[in-house]
Amino acid sequence: MKDVYILAIESSCDETSMAIVKNGKDVVSLTIATQMDTHALYGGVVPEIASRMHTEAITLVLEETLKKANMKMEDMDAIAVTCKPGLTGSLIVGIECAKTLALIYNKPLIGVNHLIGHIYANNIDDKMEFPMLALIVSGGHTELVIMEDDYKFKRLGETLDDAIGEAYDKVARVIGLKYPGGPNVEKLALEGNDTYNLPKPVMDDTYNFSYSGLKSAIINLVHNAEQRGEEVRRTDLAKSFQVVAIDELVRKVEKAFRETGIKRLVVAGGVSANKYLKEEMQKLCSKYEAKLLIPKLLYCTDNAAMIGAAAYPLYLKKEFSDYSLNASSEGDLL
Ligand code: KG4
Ligand code: ZN
Repeated sequence: MKDVYILAIESSCDETSMAIVKNGKDVVSLTIATQMDTHALYGGVVPEIASRMHTEAITLVLEETLKKANMKMEDMDAIAVTCKPGLTGSLIVGIECAKTLALIYNKPLIGVNHLIGHIYANNIDDKMEFPMLALIVSGGHTELVIMEDDYKFKRLGETLDDAIGEAYDKVARVIGLKYPGGPNVEKLALEGNDTYNLPKPVMDDTYNFSYSGLKSAIINLVHNAEQRGEEVRRTDLAKSFQVVAIDELVRKVEKAFRETGIKRLVVAGGVSANKYLKEEMQKLCSKYEAKLLIPKLLYCTDNAAMIGAAAYPLYLKKEFSDYSLNASSEGDLL
């Protein structure tokens, strides 16, 4: 079969990224222009600034991606782009770029769901086999699903309030760490011990998650300590938070291993970059003799290679988008 080259575009949040992905697996080139330092000045992503910065970066990112691969637009078989979920103004920049390229070079256009992209990041250096459990842990989503086949999802549970990444970011802010909070909380937790007695989300009879109680408990703890002039042991608090937050994920995956009998797990989304999560999931998978896939660090957080990987099954099924493709802040897997 002829090789398939997909140019993939990702601009759903604060990374302008493009990749050329061969046959849904080989990353021929990948460029990520991050706006992180700019948003860190404001303590979080400012949507208006994000879309403006995507507009400034996108043609340069395209040039760089083609140059690194030593390829031309004419060599591409399709243009894939993240269309949901994400910041609407940011998504539109990528989508308009993709439509323009598809029109000029007469290539099929493929709209890709960002969360599905995170899952398919696991197909780049490994091979996903079905049925499998997929745990999505990102800045905006926390979901546990069964994947029966390519693009066939059955949801077991999701967060009823905050996403785990969001909880990491808020806890980071309240203990005085910079955006993005996740990696900074993880670093601080390395020096701490699990000494704070934080409330555990108790929802063991379902597969749903809840992180707002844990987040509020930490905010209250810090504010009360400030009012009393007491010092907060930030390293211990970071560690205690991380243990409760991740152990909750482990408990739900364990329930799924027991109740579904499925012996494969993939973890997807920015929080999958977390080492403690990786270690705990590895222990759990060893206990249940299950296979664990977590993307390599570069593909854990937002990048276009995962969008190219997720676009490939759609390309094979000729599930193309037309020029009415639009951005949506919402984006269900099912
Ligand atoms: O998937 P992602 O890059 O963007 C979204 O689709 O949301 O995820 C970003 C989230 C942020 O909340 C960030 O704090 C978190 O992933 N994150 C981490 C780590 N690296 C990124 N959380 C915990 N530990 C990390 N090492
Ligand atoms: Zn993401």
